Amino acid sequence: MKIYKAKDYNDMSRKAANILSAQVIMKPDAVLGLATGSTPLGAYSQLVEWYKKGDIDFSLVTTVNLDEYKGLTKDNPQSYYRFMCENFFDHINIDKKNVNIPDGTQENSDIECERYNNVIRSVGGIDMQLLGIGGNGHIGFNEPGCAFETETHCVKLTESTINANSRFFDTIDEVPKEAYTMGIKSIMQAKKILLIASGENKAKALYEAICGPVTPKNQASILQLHNDVTIVADEAALALMKYV
Ligand code: F6R
Repeated sequence: MKIYKAKDYNDMSRKAANILSAQVIMKPDAVLGLATGSTPLGAYSQLVEWYKKGDIDFSLVTTVNLDEYKGLTKDNPQSYYRFMCENFFDHINIDKKNVNIPDGTQENSDIECERYNNVIRSVGGIDMQLLGIGGNGHIGFNEPGCAFETETHCVKLTESTINANSRFFDTIDEVPKEAYTMGIKSIMQAKKILLIASGENKAKALYEAICGPVTPKNQASILQLHNDVTIVADEAALALMKYV
């Protein structure tokens, strides 16, 4: 596990964008696993800036996103599909045919999970998976206690995640209660993993993920068993790590 300490959110975003862009430069047809949430926004906007300057080309890149709310259509303002388009895909030259996100409108979870697992297989697996981390250690929507042995599955969101996500909705009742997410098994099959974290509200979960026991109570702790993990986190998120 390589851990890079960034000064602040902007520094974290630049460092993460550098690592993602190196992946695309070294393998133009790379498969990138992507995440939503506040943490990657700065990295996406940095990549857009470099694309506009002509420094990076996404025309051959394929993406597979971690998760999507069940019940939301692609064009719902709160769907992760829309989030990715507004914050990243609409501003770069990615071919939308190569963009993959679970289909929130598929009511039959078994069908959707099998379809998405097949998508991941058919693109040849993920070269680099970008991850954020929840304040409770979740990655994707894999919440504490979830079995490590899962591929894409439908989850019932915990109260803490529903509360954390409610900032994006008008009322808490509008926050979907279920989501499709890649499972830990799918994430662990990525060739490389890049986890980013910013802010003191991530410090405990990040410390436990890196230094604590590998336990489903902190889903990110499983990353200790992956052989190519890079963590880029700012000082606040690394506050409990004395020797980084
Ligand atoms: C998003 C995702 C989540 C977030 C996590 C952190 O696709 O999979 O696990 O990465 O909830 O969210 P932020 O970045 O908003 O703190």
